[in-house]
Parts: sequence; C-alpha cells; structure tokens
Amino acid sequence: MEEGPGYFQFDDIIEQLPGVYHAFALSTLGLVERLRESVDLRKATLVDICAGTGRCALTIAPAARHVYAVELQRGPSLFAHEQMKALGIGNLTYLRGDANRLPLRDRSVDHAVGMWGVVDSEEAERVVRPGGQVFLGGCAPGNMVGELSGMIGSLYGIPDDSPMADLFFGDSDQDHGVDEKGYHWNDFDYVADYGTPEEAARLLGRIYGPQVGHHLEEQNMSTVLWRLRLSSRSISA
Ligand SMILES: C[S@@+](CC[C@H](N)C(=O)[O-])C[C@H]1O[C@@H](n2cnc3c(N)ncnc32)[C@H](O)[C@@H]1O
Repeated sequence: MEEGPGYFQFDDIIEQLPGVYHAFALSTLGLVERLRESVDLRKATLVDICAGTGRCALTIAPAARHVYAVELQRGPSLFAHEQMKALGIGNLTYLRGDANRLPLRDRSVDHAVGMWGVVDSEEAERVVRPGGQVFLGGCAPGNMVGELSGMIGSLYGIPDDSPMADLFFGDSDQDHGVDEKGYHWNDFDYVADYGTPEEAARLLGRIYGPQVGHHLEEQNMSTVLWRLRLSSRSISA
C-alpha cells in the first residue's frame, strides 16, 4: 500500500501532493481554452473558485487585469505561490477561503470561474457584476476520468444506482443545452497529453490506483481523451 493520501481522495492528494495534481490537471487547460474563446478577459477582474494549484488562475491571469483565487487548503495555495514566482505573475491574489462564503463583496468582479470544484453557484453569482458571467467547468456524463471512466468505474465497482454512476457510465446524445439553474452548457473533446506512457501511468496511477497506471503502460497510452463540459450563465441587473 502506497503511503500518503488514498486513491480518488482529491482534496487530500491536492493538499499533500500538489505537484502530482498539477501535472495531472491538464483537462482544466482544455476548459480554460474554451472559456477564452467565449469571453474577452482583457481589463476583466475574475475570481477563480476552488482554485487548487492554479491550473486555471495561472493560465488566465496573464490575459486579465486581476484574478482572485479562492482556495480552502494550504498545500495547493503554497504550490501556486511558487508557480506565480517562477512565471513572474503579479496580478493573481490567492485568498484562503471557502467557496460557500466567498471573501469578496457583492458585484465586485467581472466574472467568476470554477473548474472541477464544488462551487455554490448562487454564491458565485453574488460576487459578479451585472453583465458578467459565471463559468463552471467539469466533465460531460461518463467522463469523470475521460475515456478511462467506464474501465475505472467497473474496477472500483461503482454501483449503477450510485450518485457517481452518471459520471463514470453516463452518456449524452446532445452537445449543448440549458440546465435547471439556467446555465448554458457545451460539451467538447479535449486530449490531455502527458508526454509519455510512463508519465501518464505515474500520475493517473498515483491518483486512481496502480491498476490504472498498469493499464496505461500496457496500452502504451500517453494521452487521455476527455469530453469536457463548460457551463455559463450571464448575470443580469
Ligand atoms: C479538484 S480541485 C480543482 C482545482 C482547480 N480548479 C483545477 O481545475 O485544477 C478542487 C479544489 O477545491 C478545493 N476546495 C474544496 N472545498 C472547498 C471550499 N469549500 N472552498 C474553497 N476551496 C475548496 C480543494 O482544496 C481543491 O483544491
């Protein structure tokens, strides 16, 4: 048994092994790429909610006026600070705070973003100025771990009636729609390229368990295909 956080324990993995999480989290770059196609970030002040190691915040900061990153845990916040220094980013402020009580005033930012986080959408909407947008990113049904989702769901025996089942085994015949909270969503494909099968196996093996790592090496896979979902809602006056 490997020392440290357990498999799938994302909040523990990101706290104790932020470098592993950061190298793994390439799907967030796919979500950010799509976000930047749909909104002009120049002159915009944003908040990145559940910012983690900064995959999103560090990527959008150079294109924006200012980014506030709200993150509960210390490990990923320290990691992000190191990245900010290394990349020379001076317009990103990490705030240790809770997504359910954002440390920001009402209507104080142009846009709010939350990638792969448990975001309270009403709280996100509270801090956005009228005319701005809230963007929430994650996966399409059946894509919790991209193309590996079905295999990993079966490996871990996720029951069909589990609340997680849709994330592992779900399917969708549409690529866009509007959800019950009025968020417009779009699904799209993104290939996360980990460089080599060994690196893909190291990262996903640490996060999802050694059998997943062995599978990637056996299949000689250095990439993982994800179907991602970006949702957005405009904030009116
Ligand atoms: C799966 S990570 C996503 C990180 C980043 N957004 C990305 O796409 O790479 C979720 C992050 O949310 C943080 N988190 C969990 N609960 C939180 C809360 N209530 N308030 C703020 N951050 C929280 C965790 O510490 C973790 O860093």
